[in-house]
Amino acid sequence: MIKDFNFYAPTRVVFGGQAEDKIGQLVANYGGTRVLLHYGGGSAERSGLLGVVRQQLTQAGIAWCELGGVVPNPLLSKVREGIDLCRRERVDFILAVGGGSVIDSSKAIGYGVPYPGDVWDFWDGKAVPQACLPIGAVLTIPAAGSEMSSSCVITNDDGLLKRGVNSDLCRCRFAVMNPARTYTLPPYQTAAGATDIMMHTMERYFSKYEDMTLTDAISEALLRTVRDAAMVVLEHPEDYRHRAQIMWAGSLAHNDLTECGTEKDFATHRLEHELSALFGVTHGAGLAALWPSWARYVKAKHLARFVQFAVNVMGVTNDFTHPEETAEAGIRAIESFYRQIGMPTSIHELLGRDITDDEIETLVDKCSRGGTITVGAMEVLNAADMRAIYQMAR
Ligand code: NZQ
Ligand code: ZN
Repeated sequence: MIKDFNFYAPTRVVFGGQAEDKIGQLVANYGGTRVLLHYGGGSAERSGLLGVVRQQLTQAGIAWCELGGVVPNPLLSKVREGIDLCRRERVDFILAVGGGSVIDSSKAIGYGVPYPGDVWDFWDGKAVPQACLPIGAVLTIPAAGSEMSSSCVITNDDGLLKRGVNSDLCRCRFAVMNPARTYTLPPYQTAAGATDIMMHTMERYFSKYEDMTLTDAISEALLRTVRDAAMVVLEHPEDYRHRAQIMWAGSLAHNDLTECGTEKDFATHRLEHELSALFGVTHGAGLAALWPSWARYVKAKHLARFVQFAVNVMGVTNDFTHPEETAEAGIRAIESFYRQIGMPTSIHELLGRDITDDEIETLVDKCSRGGTITVGAMEVLNAADMRAIYQMAR
């Protein structure tokens, strides 16, 4: 079966070594006259990128104010600060310089400025966004794919609730991507980013809609490309060619291209978001710690798909007589890849200690919202399934 789809990817992508020369013009073209320049904890200042961006805005005659200090797994408290600042300064455009955390913080501020109520209402299911300030991104880490996605993931500091909201309103007007800006990434962030990119594709590839072979072929090429390029750039951080493959893959993996004809599963993501909310771990690393256990938990009912993944992506030889073994070999192969790039394959490796039973119960309770919701699409998982997967991954 092929699922009907409605594909929308409106973000202009300006990609390449000179891409930053266009920032001022892009902001002006998309109507920015008073900009919030939003960024993270210091990498963009240290690399000189923020200097380039400020120069671009000055040259284009655009006024701006600044708010830095966005942390990985971005917080609602910073979003509130941004909303206040934007209202005070009458900001009409947000320029995010950073990765998924800065872009998501920008999206949340963008939702909050025109909304008279409490911005958390959108993540709490009490309201649906009706408007968002226009946003542009200058991407510094290929990972979350937020530069082209409709998603915005925020952590409420009060209760450590990490949740996503999806709406086309927050999609970036443009994304400026210079692969050379990713040379400075710490190896752990490079590896976690590659893991997240691959997972955004795998969360759509492992689907009960199995007949869109073109989407499968795109997904498999994307997965092999990122896997191979990640190994190269960890050895040679300044390899432009392979940094470029990863950067473009990061956008294609999460702009819904690999969902055309399939559907989002995202169970591993939902399980992971609780880990990164509770323990502050890096999202991509959390995914690596969980996916093999999710795969082993659901694979029996979807063997053909796991065999296809093993053979077409992980290069396992298909003996055509033992599909269970071929499927398992594919999972073992990706675990071995994770180890090679320094990613964990269990929660113990992720946290550097054992997780307690109480902590697992907290994760299950949050992920299932007290047993009231399920996650996943290929296999729908309830609280008992979530508990079993966290236990397997511990
Ligand atoms: O804060 P700075 O100093 O900039 O350091 C960052 C941060 O510590 C650093 N970094 C970024 N670019 C760098 C750099 N260091 C050196 N050189 C550079 N060029 O990397 C660290 C991680 O940055 P972050 O923005 O947190 O990474 P990522 O892009 O992985 O974003 C993670 C967040 O996005 C969410 C995740 O849950 C997490 O909160 N996601 C958002 C999605 C979306 N909106 O579509 C989908 C994803 O599945 C994901 O859930
Ligand atoms: Zn992700």
